[in-house]
Amino acid sequence: MNDKGFTLWFTGLSGSGKSTLAQYLTPILKERGKKVEVLDGDEIRENLSKGLGFSKEDRDTNIRRIGYVANLLSRNGCVAITAAISPYSSVRDEIRAKTAAAFVEVYVEAPLEVVEERDTKGLYKKARAGEIKNFTGISDPYEAPASAEVTVHTGTESIEESAQKVVNYLESQGLLG
Ligand code: ADX
Repeated sequence: MNDKGFTLWFTGLSGSGKSTLAQYLTPILKERGKKVEVLDGDEIRENLSKGLGFSKEDRDTNIRRIGYVANLLSRNGCVAITAAISPYSSVRDEIRAKTAAAFVEVYVEAPLEVVEERDTKGLYKKARAGEIKNFTGISDPYEAPASAEVTVHTGTESIEESAQKVVNYLESQGLLG
């Protein structure tokens, strides 16, 4: 057991499994003695970022807020898991540079066909119908990370496999005890 905090920054399309993986990993990390907070995109938008929309400017503001809180938590020994689309690589890199503790970017990859087929919130259908504008992956960009520390493929891997990849990486970096 060690008391190192770090930021586990998930990025990926809506419906790729960021929140599910964050929730799945939380008890695993707690069992390893970590304090864990999940900063979930939807929850942050209900609270910290209420009123923000999905323009690039608003998304960047949202992501900078999440990055700010993740930095506060992780520099104090907590594991901050963020689960927002965070579609723009420049803002992700900006946050990485500002984060005092270790910053672990996890690309939660799933092909558009897969997330569209899942359509867990029914939003892809609405985006295709033009009822939602600027929808990530349909009518708004998603910039995949060029060098994420971990990439998981939720279209083909089980959640156990994806979680194990993350845990293996954290162990390899001495971030778990
Ligand atoms: S981010 O781009 O600022 O990182 P965030 O993760 O907070 O996005 O919010 C994404 C969630 O908002 C999606 O999972 C979806 O439920 C909802 N949403 C509503 N409108 C959009 C949109 N235009 N693009 C993407 N997601 C949207």
